[in-house]
Amino acid sequence: MSPRNLDASMVKTVRSIAAALLTILLTLTVSARGQGKTAETTVWDKVFTDEQAARGKLSYQSACSDCHMEHLRGDGQAPPLKGEDFAPQWKTVGAFMAAMGSQMPPDKPGGLPFATYCDITAFILQANNYPAGNKELAGSLEELDKILLTPKP
Ligand code: HEC
Repeated sequence: MSPRNLDASMVKTVRSIAAALLTILLTLTVSARGQGKTAETTVWDKVFTDEQAARGKLSYQSACSDCHMEHLRGDGQAPPLKGEDFAPQWKTVGAFMAAMGSQMPPDKPGGLPFATYCDITAFILQANNYPAGNKELAGSLEELDKILLTPKP
């Protein structure tokens, strides 16, 4: 083998190692992305139950509907809690609950039990036409912040 041929075959080897590494890297990246996708929870994944929404409706009627109204469209001062602006405005269930819990009801911000805020949120999600399932909405605000308000898949 002449030195020139040796160089050429080394270049070939280096190239094929580089190609193999690139393939591995791409495979890892793609599978990491795939996992991110399956781990993502959205509001379309049935994150509350009908029973919970029914409880939430009663709490809503006693604590919220004077201002936000039975139809949830607000009274002009109190903003609507349903409609096409709902998801874009809040982005996650946790973000909605953080805003609601820290300000509402106005005479007693944060004054309801956390479970009641979860129930009311279940009712509001139901009113926004998201699907119910067999698991109640619960957990810390941080966990609830992982439930994304995405457009209908
Ligand atoms: C006395 C009337 C009144 C009651 C009762 C009331 N709200 Fe409100 N709410 C308002 C008004 C007015 C605003 C808008 C002004 C503001 O942001 O403070 C508002 C704002 C909100 C917002 C938007 C907050 C933001 O950051 O934009 C949410 C969500 C909300 N209310 C949910 C509720 C829920 C749920 C209840 C019942 C637990 C409730 N409100 C009870 C009057 C009321």
